[in-house]
Amino acid sequence: MKVHELVSSFGKACENANPMDAAREILESLRGQVEAIENLLGYISGTGGNAGQLFYRSPQVTLLKVCFPVGRRTPPHDHGTWATILQLSGEEKNTLYRRENGELRKVGEKILTRGAILTMPADTVHVVQCRSDVPAIGLHVYGGDIFTLARHMWNPETLQEHALDWTLYEKFAQTASKAANAPLEG
Ligand SMILES: [Fe+2]
Repeated sequence: MKVHELVSSFGKACENANPMDAAREILESLRGQVEAIENLLGYISGTGGNAGQLFYRSPQVTLLKVCFPVGRRTPPHDHGTWATILQLSGEEKNTLYRRENGELRKVGEKILTRGAILTMPADTVHVVQCRSDVPAIGLHVYGGDIFTLARHMWNPETLQEHALDWTLYEKFAQTASKAANAPLEG
């Protein structure tokens, strides 16, 4: 498989009446080729912000390779659209939330190891923590152009909601990474 073939298959999936399910089906079909996908995307670092992560962007779909370094935990955030992720390597814990009456409520968690898939509808908020002693790397598919969609993030200490701002996000991520747990957890 070539990168353009991967891009093309997600591009077609997102023309579907139910693009989230169609994109997830493609990830399901790739589960047996995780190592090959990892090699295919080896030219992308997955770190250093969007420029190091992005390999396709359109109004219908965004494709990123995302690498969470060892010890990293994100603040709670949404994506402004649905997202589906195929874990390529490492282990990450996703803590899942929903916004209810303006407040976050924890609704579940999922550990992702190589080959695992997590699909998040547009109303999902999550925290990602790299739990392995190697980076947690995934192929992320988003239903739209996530660089233009309205997105939100939450202060990991106060749970105050903010519009997504990458400078503040990084500060929140540093605070979140030092905490013992994700917000509203244990
Ligand atoms: Fe996310």
